[in-house]
Amino acid sequence: MAFLRWAGSKKQILGTVSQAWYASGATGRYIESFSGSAALFFYISPPKSILIDCNPHLQECMSVLKRRPIAVSTLLQRYSGDEAEYYKVRSTDPCLLSPEERSARFIYLNRFCFNGLYRTNSKGWFNVPYGGHKSGELPNADKLKYYSDILRNTTIVCGDFYTQTKKYVESGDFVYLDPPYAKTNASLDFQYGPNEFGMNDLDRLNELIKIIHSRGAYFVVSYAKCEEIEMLSEDWYQYPVEVRRTIAASPQKRQAAPELLITNL
Ligand SMILES: C[S@@+](CC[C@H](N)C(=O)[O-])C[C@H]1O[C@@H](n2cnc3c(N)ncnc32)[C@H](O)[C@@H]1O
Repeated sequence: MAFLRWAGSKKQILGTVSQAWYASGATGRYIESFSGSAALFFYISPPKSILIDCNPHLQECMSVLKRRPIAVSTLLQRYSGDEAEYYKVRSTDPCLLSPEERSARFIYLNRFCFNGLYRTNSKGWFNVPYGGHKSGELPNADKLKYYSDILRNTTIVCGDFYTQTKKYVESGDFVYLDPPYAKTNASLDFQYGPNEFGMNDLDRLNELIKIIHSRGAYFVVSYAKCEEIEMLSEDWYQYPVEVRRTIAASPQKRQAAPELLITNL
């Protein structure tokens, strides 16, 4: 399981999606094009992989954890996770910190923020309120070392899913794509900032899966079952799955939501 909490992480369908990875018999690399907390990646622990995401703070955290888990763990040990401390850490300017301090700060804020959200204000400052200890304690040194070992043969890339996947994908690779929901779908509008993913990105996703297929690689896309995904799914196999999604930021309002896995497998 992942060491970060991440909105839209598909923890509930890891079993189903991982079956696609094993069934593919992929001889190449595991590539995740919207990696976030990389829950599937940590679940299957592939021998060689590439994690792509456009969030530079997240990708820096992954690369520092890969190289310096003990340094990050030492920094995390000084925190208790109470509310006053949270706001103090949140108000620290990350530019004044070392990469190890920034990574520890990222893991800390992610652990104790509300609902594991990642949201920034117009100046790019993380602004999610305190959420308390409900989601457990900070990962200890053993856990961070464990995650670092899984990351050992992984290339961590900060960039756009289309450009970077197109650059890297080769025959025999397996690509998992778990995009944010596109912004025109109002009922799903709860996860990310306003500029993250739009309808033109869905067109690019559509083009990308054709490229992946034409290179002789395998892909699985997970997306909410809704109108705009239909243009993507008509040429490929579709498998319905269900996730329970938090609506209106209330754990009481978890609803079963149909999702689709779209694949060339
Ligand atoms: C649904 S989350 C992925 C969750 C992931 N499967 C996990 O296990 O946590 C979508 C991710 O896509 C990233 N993202 C949004 N737009 C992107 C883009 N144009 N290129 C690459 N990544 C993008 C976001 O930063 C976010 O981490």
